[in-house]
Amino acid sequence: MTEPVTDGEEGAPAGKPTAVSRTTLSHIMTAADTNLLGTVHGGVIMKLVDDAAGAVAGRHSGGPAVTASMDEMAFLEPVRVGDLVHVKAQINWTGRSSMEVGVRVLAERWNESTPATQVGSAYLVFAAVDAEGRPRPVPPVIAETERDRRRYQEAQIRRTHRLARRRAIMELRARHAAEGRADA
Ligand SMILES: CC(C)(COP(=O)(O)OP(=O)(O)OC[C@H]1O[C@@H](n2cnc3c(N)ncnc32)[C@H](O)[C@@H]1OP(=O)(O)O)[C@@H](O)C(=O)NCCC(=O)NCCS
Repeated sequence: MTEPVTDGEEGAPAGKPTAVSRTTLSHIMTAADTNLLGTVHGGVIMKLVDDAAGAVAGRHSGGPAVTASMDEMAFLEPVRVGDLVHVKAQINWTGRSSMEVGVRVLAERWNESTPATQVGSAYLVFAAVDAEGRPRPVPPVIAETERDRRRYQEAQIRRTHRLARRRAIMELRARHAAEGRADA
């Protein structure tokens, strides 16, 4: 595994390249993973996505990290019993204590040599926490390739939208509370 390559500013963790924590989790789908239609339950895939992203967040931050949010989980194709599913995750962006992890889900037949196809994708935010569950600083991610730099910029756009949405909702709730509305 590659070691961090930059020194952090005083008190801040050193930066880590994306490749240091990039992870793939592979799993064969069985009859125990199906929904009532006989294809694989979306929740089974979401668990794998959270597991892979959690491993990446833990590796990047060098300690415990918790899922703060999961958004834009897209299911592009059904996953079937007998599919070998690969969940590929990497750090897209880092803030002070939070990290966005991007995940791609690929599937191939477990006993055929056909190429894997993408069946899903997701973006998750993890917060690195200390022993008391309080947010702690994370090393800045160093995006090394053109693709990683694009992913970093896209993640910044999602971050801006998440914060704006949360702020707008909090303001609406505060307004309703101030007006003494029954729903507040
Ligand atoms: C996530 C958690 C640690 C945030 O704690 P907090 O007291 O709100 O701390 P902050 O407001 O300082 O947030 C910490 C960071 O997480 C980010 N964050 C918090 N909630 C977020 C959300 N819903 N979506 C995206 N980012 C979020 C903040 O923007 C901040 O990022 P930054 O430090 O890079 O600027 C806390 O809400 C928590 O423990 N949640 C439960 C997590 C958990 O148990 N997950 C497993 C579910 S079973």
